[in-house]
Amino acid sequence: MPGVFQLSPDELVREAERAHALGVPAVLLFGIPDRKDAKASGAYAKNGIVQQAVRLLKKELPPLLVITDVCLCEYMEHGHCGVVERRRPARHVGKKSGHAGSETGAPVKILNDPSLKLLARAAASHAEAGADIVSPSDMMDGRVRAIRTELDRAGFADTPIMSYAAKFASAFYGPFREAAESAPKFGDRRGYQMDPANANEALREVALDIQEGADIVMVKPALAYLDLICRVKTEFGYPTAAYAVSAEYAMIKAAAANGWIDECAVTLESLLAMRRAGADILITYAAADAARWLKAG
Ligand code: PBG
Ligand code: ZN
Repeated sequence: MPGVFQLSPDELVREAERAHALGVPAVLLFGIPDRKDAKASGAYAKNGIVQQAVRLLKKELPPLLVITDVCLCEYMEHGHCGVVERRRPARHVGKKSGHAGSETGAPVKILNDPSLKLLARAAASHAEAGADIVSPSDMMDGRVRAIRTELDRAGFADTPIMSYAAKFASAFYGPFREAAESAPKFGDRRGYQMDPANANEALREVALDIQEGADIVMVKPALAYLDLICRVKTEFGYPTAAYAVSAEYAMIKAAAANGWIDECAVTLESLLAMRRAGADILITYAAADAARWLKAG
């Protein structure tokens, strides 16, 4: 991803200071651990990379809002967002829900409820480190309620949840997976992420997340899903975030590098479209650039 790098906590503080000085109010952190395993230990380790980064950021730059992405894929050796059980293919023929097909055709079974425990632990450990908002991106069923319950129990009743409520199984995540080393080693994410063709299902997922206690709901990707941003904002009137994902950013960068488009104008017009559709919050890799361009008028 052009201009996007893996950072150590001290480098992160410098980047965050630069962005904040330009007017970016918040950051969303993703962690890349030294070692991955089968229970995503790094996701909820007291001294995990995100936990360290949050502590340092809140100490060095208290006014910056720190949001943490809560998921297991970066910490799992197999790269899936939940706990995986590999079974004999024949037992799952014809079953769709919770199964992600693999290149070889053998389905991958994601264990939903055991995943919830790990996600809730990760969220609480982020809150304990000082995260202002936690943001689950895994798409397991019931995770907002599980995280809300655990946060309340652990003394973080005031920590809000921004849920990736309508997160589609999208080809626009490619550059992120490479940058974050989180591509699934087998299978795909279609068993737990949403069908791009199914808007009604996405709206039901948003309704469920709100019922379970989400404080902000997110639509992701953004530009190819403006209809959903608009429908979510219109139907629920809830704080709504739009996540302009890695390929949205990379496509603009690539075309601009070729001299085919005006990077600043196209970026700002895209972000404007997300706002026009109804997004209250924009999550974008172009945040610092956009802030700079807006400041410069
Ligand atoms: C994984 C996660 C992904 C993104 C954010 N969290 C990728 C995926 O679902 O494979 C995508 C971000 C992007 O493309 O910018 N939980
Ligand atoms: Zn994930």
